[in-house]
Amino acid sequence: MVLDNISLINFRNYSKLNINFSKNINILIGDNAQGKTNILEAIYVLAITKSHRAMIDSNIIKENEQFCKLKGKVNINNLSRNLEFFLSNNEKKVSINNKQIKKLTDYISKFNIIIFTPDDLDLIKSSPGVRRKFLNVEIGQLDNNYLNILNDYNKLLKTRNEYLKRVPNKKTLNEKYLEVLTDKLIEKAIYIYQKRFEFIDLLNERINLIYSDIMNQDNLSIKYSNNLNIKEFDSSAIKQILKNKFKNNLSKEILLGTTLNGPHKDDIIFKLNENDIKTYGSQGQQRSCILSIKLAEIDIFKNKTNEMPLVLLDDIFSELDDTKKNNIIKYINKDMQVIITTTDLNQINEELLINSYIYKVQNGIVERQVK
Ligand SMILES: Nc1ncnc2c1ncn2[C@@H]1O[C@H](COP(=O)(O)OP(=O)(O)OP(=O)(O)O)[C@@H](O)[C@H]1O
Ligand SMILES: [Mg+2]
Repeated sequence: MVLDNISLINFRNYSKLNINFSKNINILIGDNAQGKTNILEAIYVLAITKSHRAMIDSNIIKENEQFCKLKGKVNINNLSRNLEFFLSNNEKKVSINNKQIKKLTDYISKFNIIIFTPDDLDLIKSSPGVRRKFLNVEIGQLDNNYLNILNDYNKLLKTRNEYLKRVPNKKTLNEKYLEVLTDKLIEKAIYIYQKRFEFIDLLNERINLIYSDIMNQDNLSIKYSNNLNIKEFDSSAIKQILKNKFKNNLSKEILLGTTLNGPHKDDIIFKLNENDIKTYGSQGQQRSCILSIKLAEIDIFKNKTNEMPLVLLDDIFSELDDTKKNNIIKYINKDMQVIITTTDLNQINEELLINSYIYKVQNGIVERQVK
């Protein structure tokens, strides 16, 4: 897929901006705080309907403005589509070819992107919630039904937790009501587990090869940490395990007023030769682990959609040595659109510079540089 152009209105430090992209390599160069990442963020928001870095949605609206708007022309399987995103303090809307899409989940997954940023290390270092969000965003891009089911699951979970909080003890419990809620929750949970098992398998089939290419050593794998204690997806086994867990934990759940089992407790562990990379790996190993995962995703997306995803590289070359850079460049396919930000063109390999579009970003003004 190719993003031909994007326009921004009141987005971060941009009042108005329109950029045409090359279908291959695009480089955004500029000093710090000029608005390079903001452009990548705009592309991310146009695809995912949420920022990868804003704490709250409205952060992306330009200061002192009431709304922001993004428009992009995307080419997917030789079909051109106009995507539009609008956000104000009380409304979020998206449309494709001027037709509003009521459900955000029907919009996401049409236009696939993979972003590499220096903050990606959080995926290893931060709490399990960050890793679950990663799974949700990536699986959601591959399968929008996943996002629908996840929404259903979260609503049921909220209702169930509220009920558990309300019930003083087992005696006053409306068993039938809780059972109905629990059964529905289990049904949604099974689908979420299935998609997570599948996605982690797809990553595991690829990451070790990529990692050893970058680092020339060690074995990288991802362990799906759930409290089911099963190695692979098995719908009826999961159903039984969850039913038992809910039965055995009922008193505890009422006491704590919360649901103790389910995919909302999931985590993933990155393992280097059986050791958790979080506590065992060096900075370089952690960075290479993240790179391997993202590069593996490119292949996963390509296999699924028959199209290369759009790849956004936010200032990642400054932190990598030449060998790692070269290895990454190997994976940047000729028919892939890539948008790279940098403060220094010297960090970008000659190979990438040839035929690339170079844009100078300065205080919210973007100009194409003619070589
Ligand atoms: N909502 C907003 N309204 C106006 N300006 C904003 C808003 N949010 C961020 N900014 C401004 O955007 C600029 C940062 O832009 P961005 O993160 O794109 O910089 P960058 O070019 O990627 O810099 P670096 O090289 O340091 O990563 C800052 O000057 C910041 O003050
Ligand atoms: Mg930046």
